[in-house]
Amino acid sequence: MAVFRAEETIIALTDRCPHAGGSLGQGWIEEGEVVRPLHRWRFKLLDGCCSTMRGQGVHRFPAQIRQDQIWVLV
Ligand code: FES
Repeated sequence: MAVFRAEETIIALTDRCPHAGGSLGQGWIEEGEVVRPLHRWRFKLLDGCCSTMRGQGVHRFPAQIRQDQIWVLV
């Protein structure tokens, strides 16, 4: 699981890129998307859909901060 913080929102995504299995957690956030470092596939933080390759994507898990801890529903 790759966990990101965008301002006050916690985003938890499957940490396995559908392209070649790389870690999304090694990427960075740019314009509301996670960008993979190796081949630059991009995934929307909103829903995990891939904006580079139509029909691809990763699962987004419900997540929130409670009492300074990150909770993720799996
Ligand atoms: S492994 Fe994800 S972009 Fe290549």
